Amino acid sequence: MTDRLGRTIDYMRVSVTDRCNLRCKYCMPHGVRLARHRDLLTYEELLRVCRTAVGLGIVKYKLTGGEPLLRRGFPEFAARVKGLNGVEQVTLTTNGLLLAPQLDALCSAGLDGVNISLDTLRNEEYSAVTGTDGVCADAARQAVELCVRRGMRVKVNAVLLAETCADIVPLAALARQMPVDVRFIEPMPIGEGAAVKGISAEIALSLLRRQWPDLSPTEEKRVNGPARYYASRELTGRIGFINAVSHCFCASCNRVRLTSTGLLKPCLCYDTAEDLRALLRGGASDEELEAAVRRTIEKKPRAHCFSRAQYVTEHRSMSQIGG
Ligand code: GTP
Ligand code: 5AD
Ligand code: SF4
Repeated sequence: MTDRLGRTIDYMRVSVTDRCNLRCKYCMPHGVRLARHRDLLTYEELLRVCRTAVGLGIVKYKLTGGEPLLRRGFPEFAARVKGLNGVEQVTLTTNGLLLAPQLDALCSAGLDGVNISLDTLRNEEYSAVTGTDGVCADAARQAVELCVRRGMRVKVNAVLLAETCADIVPLAALARQMPVDVRFIEPMPIGEGAAVKGISAEIALSLLRRQWPDLSPTEEKRVNGPARYYASRELTGRIGFINAVSHCFCASCNRVRLTSTGLLKPCLCYDTAEDLRALLRGGASDEELEAAVRRTIEKKPRAHCFSRAQYVTEHRSMSQIGG
């Protein structure tokens, strides 16, 4: 389906939980209120929304959270989404810490790619950024390696934080050692993200160019998202930037997002949403559900407003929305 600005909407981010085993300062800081279990959509309800959306041409699904791998039965759910008639792609975004024991099941589910969040390779800093004692960056890094060895398409997501400036080059070097894309993300002023001191993508790029002077933009489209990619002869993978604050990529936006509590959002930064849970639990027909998905697409704004934080009307945390 196309929206009123002619953008083709073929991608849905589906958050399966607002829970997480970490407390990243820009996403789910300590004290964030969790939804009541009964308010989270069941897998059956999520599948019904996906089935409706496929009928409207939404054929790519990003499964996200919180941390999706915390939810019991997640690989089976991913397999069911992949198995829906018409679905072309199912990918996962995860912090990777719970990945190893579920990897076989995830491979069998037919996942088309995994994005792993990793902001620093230093264990102490990882613990500080993720607000969690006893976790280490090595485990997330190992998850990246495991997935690569299994032939999965892997991207690393690193949020550009002032305190992880020293990690930018070492993280990018993962793309030299392995065929992974490493993407640097400007922190977005969503929830606690507004209080975080970040670094601009421009500064990160200049640091990277000291190491790899031939880094230059590629026009190739590496899947769906808002990232811009750069290549160097010395790197196997690409370096990506998600310049959510300094640039606007909304002209090519292809997505809507479903929160774990069943709100269907046309855009990340506004609080506009259709309450699909109320419809699902109120006995709505398939036609009524489809009409709500259509309304969401019709309400997609021209652009986000992250450069003017006072216009951001979404006050939930990223973990409550799904990124
Ligand atoms: P793929 O490239 O398809 O894997 O997707 P992606 O890069 O969109 O997904 P991922 O879950 O890895 O998200 C990476 C970053 O992009 C996160 O910080 C998301 O919050 C951000 N992001 C994803 N979609 C949007 C969007 O529509 N608008 C904005 N502003 N940020 C987004
Ligand atoms: N700004 C930018 N990226 C964020 N993420 C979570 N919160 C923010 C934020 N405020 C990223 C995570 C993860 C992805 C789903 O979203 O690092 O990689
Ligand atoms: Fe959890 Fe990912 Fe949010 Fe960190 S960014 S708190 S790992 S959902």
